[in-house]
Amino acid sequence: MVAILITAGPTREHLDDVRYLSNGSSGRMGFALALAAATAGHQPTLVLGPTELPPPPGVAVVRVVSALEMQAAAERAFATADVAIAAAAVCDWRPARRAPGKPPKPAAGGGQTLELVANPDIVAGLAARKGRRVVVGFGLESAAAGMPAAIARGRGKLVQKGLDLVVVNLHDAIGSDEAGIVLCHADGRDEALPRGGKDLAAARIVAAAVQLWRERATT
Ligand code: C5P
Repeated sequence: MVAILITAGPTREHLDDVRYLSNGSSGRMGFALALAAATAGHQPTLVLGPTELPPPPGVAVVRVVSALEMQAAAERAFATADVAIAAAAVCDWRPARRAPGKPPKPAAGGGQTLELVANPDIVAGLAARKGRRVVVGFGLESAAAGMPAAIARGRGKLVQKGLDLVVVNLHDAIGSDEAGIVLCHADGRDEALPRGGKDLAAARIVAAAVQLWRERATT
C-alpha cells in the first residue's frame, strides 16, 4: 500500500472577509485520483481547496482555503507520503494585505488597485525535498499551438519544478483529434492516454506514479 498525497481544487486568496481571488476548478480530477488510488488499494490523502462538489466518501480529506494553508497541509501530509500528485489549481498571487470585515467599496466609479504578492509553488517545494519520493505535477496547456508545443511547456515544468512526471492536460482538446492527456515521463517518454474520461486517466496516472515509487523502493 502506497501513501499518496493529492492536492486538489482551487485556492481562495482573501482581500477581506468576503472578497477573494480564485481559480475555476471543480476538484474533479483530484477526486478521480483519490478514488483511483483507494480502488487500487493505496492510501490517498486529499488536501482540498474550497469546492462545491463533495469529495469521494472514505477518503481522508484536509480542507484548506488559501495557497499558504494548502502549502502547510501538503508539507505535513508529505512527511508520511510516498507519492505526491499536485492537481490543485493554486492561485499564483495573493493580496499583499487582508482587511478585516468588508470594507466599503470606493465612491461610485472609483477604481481600485490591488497589490499582489506571489504565492509559493507548492509542488516545487515538495519536489525540492522529495528524496526517494515521487512527485507528479499537472500542466494545463492550450491545444491551440499544437501538441508538441504543449509537451514542450510541460517538460519545462518537469525540469524547473524538479518533478518525476508531468501530466499535460489539453483543456481545449475536446472534439479535436489530439489526445487530451499526455504523461511526460522524466526518462523522456511521452505517453498519450487513450480518450476515456477522467476516471481512466486518473487510474493510469496513479499506476504510473506507484510504479516509479516501487522501482525506486527496490533499488
Ligand atoms: O506552473 P503551473 O501553475 O502551470 O504548474 C501547474 C502545476 O504546479 C500543478 O501541478 C499545480 O498543482 C502546481 N502548482 C503548485 N503551486 C503553485 C502553482 C502550481 O503546486 N503555486
